[in-house]
Amino acid sequence: MDNRPIGVFDSGLGGLTSVQELHRQLPEEKVIYYGDTARTPYGSKSPETIIKFATQIVDYLVARNTKMIIIACNTVTALALDSLRERYPAIPIIGVIEPTVKKVVGDGVRKVGVIATKATIGSDVYGKELRAMSPGIDVHSAACPAIVPLVEEGLTDTDIMELTVRHYMDDFVKEGGFSDLILGCTHYPLVTKHLKKLYPNLHLYSSSAEVIREAAAILKEKDMLASGSEFTDRYYASDMSDNFIAMTDMLFADTDFKIHLLKLEE
Ligand code: DGL
Repeated sequence: MDNRPIGVFDSGLGGLTSVQELHRQLPEEKVIYYGDTARTPYGSKSPETIIKFATQIVDYLVARNTKMIIIACNTVTALALDSLRERYPAIPIIGVIEPTVKKVVGDGVRKVGVIATKATIGSDVYGKELRAMSPGIDVHSAACPAIVPLVEEGLTDTDIMELTVRHYMDDFVKEGGFSDLILGCTHYPLVTKHLKKLYPNLHLYSSSAEVIREAAAILKEKDMLASGSEFTDRYYASDMSDNFIAMTDMLFADTDFKIHLLKLEE
């Protein structure tokens, strides 16, 4: 048993979709969450900048005595996972991409679409990992860079978002001919309503949910599950925008949820 909290982070509020999953799958676990709302989106930034920001956050979470780090961000996973693992070899650091790929391949999928940020698609990490685990798999990728800023602006349930999704997806879905789609960004579960309405035949894989299944398996295997912890979940953001507060109120409507402002040192 290990009652220390789990550190979870993202460029903003997308990673809260993983925290929702964590509460569902592992209700005994406690969380310290960091959303880098002042510097979001990461998906259009250079690898050096993404690695620098992610390292600052993980340094902070490790200093808070967390037992595991969940990178609830595909962009950081794609670009910074290796360097973070090198920096902290003794702590399990879990990225979102490998668990999602494992699930897709395990389900026997042979043709798949991937949507994600520019940085994630540019790295082709999904393509590489899918092909490594399932040689010959047919992977179709599309970057959807405007979705994250719209979510962070609080425009998730609007016609603008629906049009944006259609802008990226209509031709991609028609020409790709796949029936399985990976949501390769932890903000995208928030647009599931639009995706289901527009493309009802697509089966969706959520990286936000798969990473929690992997975390659960690792905690069990290492005998590190929490039980009866008295730690209270802590949520931090580098900027307290009204939108961020409104989104978190919506996502965690039935919990006692408070966000604290925390800027990390450059
Ligand atoms: N939720 C992040 C991801 O999974 C969004 C990255 C961004 O800030 O652009 O990639």
